[in-house]
This record gives sequence, C-alpha cells and structure tokens, in this order.
Amino acid sequence: MTDHIRTELTEGVLTVTLARPEKKNAITQAMYAALAEATQWARTDDAVRVLLFRGEGDSFSAGNDIADFIALGSQGGGVTDAPVFHFLKSLADLDKPAVAAVRGRAVGIGLTLLLHCDMVVVAEDALLSAPFINLALAPEAASSMLLPQAIGHQRAFEIFALGEPIDGATALAWGLANRAVAAAEVDAVAADLAAKLATRAPNSIRKTKRLMRDAERLWALMRREGEAFGSQMTSPEAMEAFMAFSQKRAPDFSKAG
Ligand code: COA
Repeated sequence: MTDHIRTELTEGVLTVTLARPEKKNAITQAMYAALAEATQWARTDDAVRVLLFRGEGDSFSAGNDIADFIALGSQGGGVTDAPVFHFLKSLADLDKPAVAAVRGRAVGIGLTLLLHCDMVVVAEDALLSAPFINLALAPEAASSMLLPQAIGHQRAFEIFALGEPIDGATALAWGLANRAVAAAEVDAVAADLAAKLATRAPNSIRKTKRLMRDAERLWALMRREGEAFGSQMTSPEAMEAFMAFSQKRAPDFSKAG
C-alpha cells in the first residue's frame, strides 16, 4: 500500500495520479505495485473505459527511484520479479485507451510510459528524457523498439545515449504527443480527451487498439530488455552512476571496462 499513487474513477475515466511531488514523482517499488494494480483494474472492469495518467506538482515523473535502484542492484539479479515488471506487463496487456497529461519533467519510465499511451498531452515547456546510459543502464518498457519506431533511430539513440531532454514542442513535432499546450492547461486538455474517448464504442476501441499493437511482442521485448537492464544494474559502472546521483556529482566512467 502507498499513498503515492491515487486513483479516481469518474464517468468511465480512471485517473491515476503519481503523488510524490517532493521527489518529483520518482517511482518506488510500492508505487509500481499500485500502478500495476490500477492498470489491471482498468483492463478488467467494464466501468473503466479510459486510463488517464497524470502527475501531482511540477513534474510528471523523475523516473525510477534511484535509491530503489541501489537497493535492488545490491540484492543482485531477479529484477524481472520486481513490481516494475508487473506494471510493464499490465501496460503491454492493456487494450483500453490510455491518455497521459505531462507537465515538467518526464524522465526514464516517465517518458517510456508515454509510448504505451494512445494520446499524450504535454506542456510546451515539459522536459522529456531517457538518460539510461547516463545511469549505465539500458532501455526498458519496450522503448528500445517503440522510441526509434516513433521518432527514428538517430533521435532515439541520442535520447538514450546523451540523456539530454527534449521539450514538449519538440515532442509534438517528433510525433511523441498529440497536443502541446500551456502547462496550466495540460490536465484539462487531457481530461477532455479522456472524457471524449470514454464516450466511444468500447469494444470497437479495444479491438482497434489490439490491432494496432502486438502485446506478446512487446512483453517478449520487455523481458529481453530486463535481462540487459538487470545485468547492468548490478555492474560497477551502474553503482558509480547511482552513487554519483546520491552524492550530487557527475559520474566518472573513466575506469570502467
Ligand atoms: N529517484 C530518487 N529521488 C529523486 C529522483 C529519482 N529518480 N529524482 C529526483 N529525486 C529527488 C531528489 O534527490 C531531490 O530530493 P531531496 O530534496 O531530498 O534532495 C528531490 O527529488 C527534488 O529533485 P531535484 O533534483 O532537487 O530537482 P531538480 O528540479 O533540480 O531536478 C530532475 C529534477 C528530475 C532533473 C533531477 O531530480 C534528476 O535528474 N533526477 C533523476 C532522474 C533520473 O535519472 N531518473 C532515473 C531514470 S532511469
């Protein structure tokens, strides 16, 4: 149980709020477990027509909690048993529409989650990044396929390898978002889109989404990515990256090899 994920079902829209603003909505294991539960609820309950992800405070999400990375990394192996994988599986299986409302930072899974949303509203000044290589990790959530598919190999590689953010206007231009609006309007625009989707024929929309993506393939790739991610997580270069973050300094990979 965690208070850091809130859910509210209103007129067919299940709104899931990342609610840990003091840590920029960085996602802990307990939060992944709650996100998995909410996503499965969305899929299995006829009362839910649309899933809407949003963040409380000034950021969508700073990605995986880095203290959790340190804890999981020192436990060694077995990351595919972790709650994050239950959440990823639930995203691969989700055949109802998902919408995201993105203000501020969307880092790591804060960005890769958007690749599983069918409609994305970003703030023009939002900052989206996937700095897996800065953390000596590897892409997750099937982003090694979905990101290059959406924006092309070179742009996706730069996002992974240099870890620098793109803004909301760029995300819109590159096809990662449906709308880029002023930050103050993001929640309302996303809620309007979700409400509109909730009025559409539910079986038709589910069949359409199922035809547009291959859930089995996504899950197989997520597992493969998990192997690369898991072996990196226990590596000395990743430990250096996590320590550097907690000590608020740049990582030093000069001795890695
Ligand atoms: N895990 C754990 N804590 C995090 C976090 C994360 N992913 N992201 C931010 N926080 C914490 C910070 O440590 C800080 O905590 P403190 O107030 O106790 O020191 C608090 O959230 C606020 O973050 P801060 O870094 O001060 O905010 P900022 O506006 O200067 O920068 C970010 C925001 C998102 C750019 C920056 O926090 C960041 O780079 N976070 C790491 C992102 C990341 O690499 N995620 C993993 C991706 S795989």
